[in-house]
Amino acid sequence: MSVQQINTAVTTTTTSIDYSEMEKVAASVLFPEIFEGSNVMLQRRKHRHPDCIESNPMYVPDEENTKIALVWLMAKDQMLALGLQGHTGTGKTELVMYLADRLNLPLYIVKTHARMNPQDLEGSYVLDNESGQTVTRKEYGPAAKAYINGGILLLDEMDKASEELTSAMHLLVEGKPWPLEMFKETLFRNKHCFCVGTANTYGSGHDERYISSNQLDQAFLSRFMWIETAYPTTIVEAKILERVGGKLPVNVRNDAIRLANAFRDAALGVNRDGDVEDPIQCIFSTRVLVAWIYYIQAFGKFRTLKQSLEAVFLRSVSPEDKEIAHHIVNKIYGDDINLSLGEILSKKS
Ligand SMILES: Nc1ncnc2c1ncn2[C@@H]1O[C@H](COP(=O)(O)OP(=O)(O)OP(=O)(O)O)[C@@H](O)[C@H]1O
Ligand SMILES: [Mg+2]
Repeated sequence: MSVQQINTAVTTTTTSIDYSEMEKVAASVLFPEIFEGSNVMLQRRKHRHPDCIESNPMYVPDEENTKIALVWLMAKDQMLALGLQGHTGTGKTELVMYLADRLNLPLYIVKTHARMNPQDLEGSYVLDNESGQTVTRKEYGPAAKAYINGGILLLDEMDKASEELTSAMHLLVEGKPWPLEMFKETLFRNKHCFCVGTANTYGSGHDERYISSNQLDQAFLSRFMWIETAYPTTIVEAKILERVGGKLPVNVRNDAIRLANAFRDAALGVNRDGDVEDPIQCIFSTRVLVAWIYYIQAFGKFRTLKQSLEAVFLRSVSPEDKEIAHHIVNKIYGDDINLSLGEILSKKS
């Protein structure tokens, strides 16, 4: 059977709709959590592209970081790409998904890892069957799709990238014409393509917590405008947990937040600036907190708080941190950690 080569446009581009058409919408409509009562107007795409992704309905944005990201997105040009740096589970990926969703921007996520090579960004030829004939079809990778269709190109966890991949990303990050080696063609950036990268580190390359993070060179780092994400304040975390576990008594949610913060004090210091003697390595992130509240409910009335906490967090704590972890739990809960949800609920009523 002959193998025929056919070139197809990016499958997700539909010619009948002009996805570059923009409309002005009140910021208070697009981001009511942040712009309530404000008369700011924002530009967004009028039509929702098939590559748009629904964001997490439980997400509660940080006001200042969201506003800065919007300043960057709404500016005439993106002189620098946008970098989000912060500890695991501080909501970096979710912030990008939230912004893309609300602005009708298609989202292309590149999950960076050490063995990834530049061709993974570009795409490859795939074999396909067309009317009984085997054909090779061009399949663009996520970065190439973002370059063609516009939208947000999210280089997620980019501090995991190898040196080779990082240098291949330089052109992309700058929005320069990008030669695709695989297809022997050069892509020009759609003027509405926004490049955002996330990282746990600034590429220091020898982080005890983020051991798979690589070194990133200054040339790469200086191509970004950086925003730092932190764990939400108690008030914001209370709002998040209300969305996830609104049926639980408020004191159950508040105690969980107190526990998360006690762990963060021991890992990152009370000011979250790393100023702490002999820090523990485990991190009680917002991700863990949300998961715990979710599983307290899913584990049902007969299981104890300790059981769900073991499952979502304590078992993954390293042996060196185990003792201090149990000490912190004991300090916040005492024996109450061994109460079942049913016992807690009946204590309340
Ligand atoms: N502001 C928030 N509102 C609601 N949920 C949040 C928020 N921040 C974090 N979370 C919860 O934490 C989870 C992890 O968030 P996200 O994946 O964005 O973290 P991250 O900073 O990208 O972490 P990593 O560095 O590990 O990739 C989310 O799925 C959500 O459950
Ligand atoms: Mg992430």
